[in-house]
Amino acid sequence: MKPDEPLLRVRELHAHYGKSHVLRGVSLDLRAKEVVALIGRNGSGRSTTLKAIMGLLPPSSGAVELQGKSVAGSRPYEISRAGIAYVPEERDVFANLTVDENLRMGEQPGTGQSYAWTFDQMFAYFPRLKERRNTLAGSLSGGEQQMLTICRSLLGNPKIMLIDEPTEGLAPKIVAAVADCIRDIHQKGVSVILVEQKLAIALKVSTRVLVMGQGRIVYEGTPRDVADNDQLLADWLAV
Ligand SMILES: Nc1ncnc2c1ncn2[C@@H]1O[C@H](COP(=O)(O)OP(=O)(O)O)[C@@H](O)[C@H]1O
Ligand SMILES: [Mg+2]
Repeated sequence: MKPDEPLLRVRELHAHYGKSHVLRGVSLDLRAKEVVALIGRNGSGRSTTLKAIMGLLPPSSGAVELQGKSVAGSRPYEISRAGIAYVPEERDVFANLTVDENLRMGEQPGTGQSYAWTFDQMFAYFPRLKERRNTLAGSLSGGEQQMLTICRSLLGNPKIMLIDEPTEGLAPKIVAAVADCIRDIHQKGVSVILVEQKLAIALKVSTRVLVMGQGRIVYEGTPRDVADNDQLLADWLAV
């Protein structure tokens, strides 16, 4: 890998649901130690972009490269083993396993990161999970399930996390805890693509912002650029 090579490179990615052409040439880079916020209106294709990168919706055409190696067309588990973790929009826990067992399901050595995540680190982010270690995940609140999903992914020691609307439907205090967690995993060297509907959170935790519209990236800028750009907000983000 060349020094200036992005960790993840996506070029002219197209994807369909049946006959519906949803991704229409998505190109983006994720460099080491970036948190890229992927924002846009509902239906603009943000979740589909993450699914296509992850191989959950096989792309119709285009390139996805992880550290210069093509992963487009690979199976989701291969992409996961290569170091990309995916936290879907819908809570994704093993309902009949305890919190502890769910976390153990996520444990993987990773592929050469300097930082190795521990249970204690997870419980420091979310003390509530520690209190509920022996509780069945299915009986947790939505917020607790979201925390658990993030922690289970982190314990796989990924290079990249793709996180889809982690704060949706959460109480303000939990939203803040999730935002703090994302800032800290960034500090520890994990790169993140974050789909986040709450603009204030997206701008607070990201280092760069991509705006999606009509199945492609229509704008790229810093969080400050976006905050100051009323026209952009009106054209691509206002409902
Ligand atoms: N499983 C699906 N089958 C058919 N169409 C879908 C499916 N999921 C999403 N879509 C459509 O694809 C478009 C993009 O959806 P999505 O990527 O979920 O948008 P976003 O996450 O930005 O809200 C929308 O028009 C949506 O209705
Ligand atoms: Mg979505």
